[in-house]
Amino acid sequence: MDIHAEKILILDFGSQTTQLIARRVRESQVYCEIHPFNIGMAKIREFGAKGIILSGGPACVLDEGAPVCDLEVLNLGVPVLGICYGMQLMSYLLGGEVERAAKREYGQAQLLIDSSEDLFHGLDGARGQGEQVWMSHGDKIKIPPPGFTAIAHSRNSPVAAMRHSETELFGVQFHPEVVHTPNGAKILQNFLFRSCGCKPVWTMKSFVASTVEDLRRTIGSKKVVCALSGGVDSSVVAFLLHEAVGHQSTCIFVNNGLLRQGEAEEVQRIFRDSFEINLDYIDATDSFLSRLEGVADPEQKRKIIGNRFIEIFEAEANKIPGAEFLAQGTLYPDVIESVSFKGPSATIKTHHNVGGLPEVMNLELIEPLRELFKDEVRKVGGELGLPHRLIHRHPFPGPGLAIRILGEVTPERLEILRQADTIVMEEMERSGLHDQVWQAFGVLLPVRTVGVMGDERTYDQVIAIRVVESVDAMTADWAKVPYEVLGQMSNRIINEVKGVNRVVYDISSKPPSTIEWE
Ligand code: XMP
Repeated sequence: MDIHAEKILILDFGSQTTQLIARRVRESQVYCEIHPFNIGMAKIREFGAKGIILSGGPACVLDEGAPVCDLEVLNLGVPVLGICYGMQLMSYLLGGEVERAAKREYGQAQLLIDSSEDLFHGLDGARGQGEQVWMSHGDKIKIPPPGFTAIAHSRNSPVAAMRHSETELFGVQFHPEVVHTPNGAKILQNFLFRSCGCKPVWTMKSFVASTVEDLRRTIGSKKVVCALSGGVDSSVVAFLLHEAVGHQSTCIFVNNGLLRQGEAEEVQRIFRDSFEINLDYIDATDSFLSRLEGVADPEQKRKIIGNRFIEIFEAEANKIPGAEFLAQGTLYPDVIESVSFKGPSATIKTHHNVGGLPEVMNLELIEPLRELFKDEVRKVGGELGLPHRLIHRHPFPGPGLAIRILGEVTPERLEILRQADTIVMEEMERSGLHDQVWQAFGVLLPVRTVGVMGDERTYDQVIAIRVVESVDAMTADWAKVPYEVLGQMSNRIINEVKGVNRVVYDISSKPPSTIEWE
């Protein structure tokens, strides 16, 4: 079965929620891709979509230089759904009248449905009760283009949704992709299944079957190496490869001495012992720590660690005769060439990839997860039988604890942070919060503060606790962890970790802070 046969094209006009549209479509088991609005007609035709979604965007369609796609997109005979800016653009291109707004409409609104035949089929609002939707727009449609009629209105928008009477062209002023539109997924599904005639074949079970087949075909009788970090992405890649080509695949795991407590042992236990995956484990602790001696600058730490990793990995990979491929856990958000993700965040992310491995190595790159979002990767992990703990592991940076120890990294300071971090994680798990947050960890600060223990004055170190909520790590909010849980972490760290007499909680969001401290 071709799981990509029924696909939706999302043209991105720069909305913050374009990725959410894609996730809702994928959750409905239909494959989709995001591309910039200006990829050109040739590529659009070649893509062969069963339906096209025009995303929202911050621009005003009446302004000079506003992003515009070709009118032909609307004449391909393929159903099109315009969302917010996408709807205004559709209207503008087809001769409707778009009105410049005096003020933005932002927030909850009641949608009153005028026709429940297509997009709003099966919704409560269709029975006259009003449907809760999320609005975030400046301009609105004053007069729909010829052939279009309003299929819903709201207090502020007489044309809150519209459709063409003969062709499958739709526009909605609100955002069906956000959670504040509770029936938004249903509205999108009506478009996908009723208008585009898609079938729900994009499941992670079918993804595994088709990817394993692809990997077998690509790798043939050759060998592949996989850079295993112990995180969920590279672990899923390792399992996929194992499933596809068994022992033709070797995972290389470099212990840089900057891992969390017990991590190196756990990786060996799971991969080598439980699943009999070929694992090349290299303990390079000394070589990393000696190069980090006396180094306090965050960027310098990152460079030293990145370069050393490449040296070691390359040397190990060269020992595997016949290896021709290098597998990596690149995900879809890293490869989307979308309008909304240009800008500073694109550059901030570059240092996160296993710095330059593919460029220096003479191996062909395989990226079996490059079509997936993180939540889909976790589902694939479930399909492949990865242990729950591994699937739900929080992201962990390549430079490891080195960028959570502010100042110089020494074996003593690593030991302190490891113990404190273990307590943070144990309490997150005990309180049931672990799987609800993006990341939780401890940071060792480069200051000493005065305390008192028994009758004695102490002059010891400080641990900062960082817990954040996030969807994609581009932005993050500090988590409102209950005081009791924080109190328990603090008590345990101060009592159990020698050398720490103070614990603080980080209440900064990203931006302007970052998730990691260095
Ligand atoms: P920041 O600190 O930039 O982190 O807000 C965003 C996300 O990326 C992770 N991170 C890294 N991951 N190598 C990685 O593989 C790195 O060098 C790196 N630095 C940060 C961080 O943990 C967070 O999830």
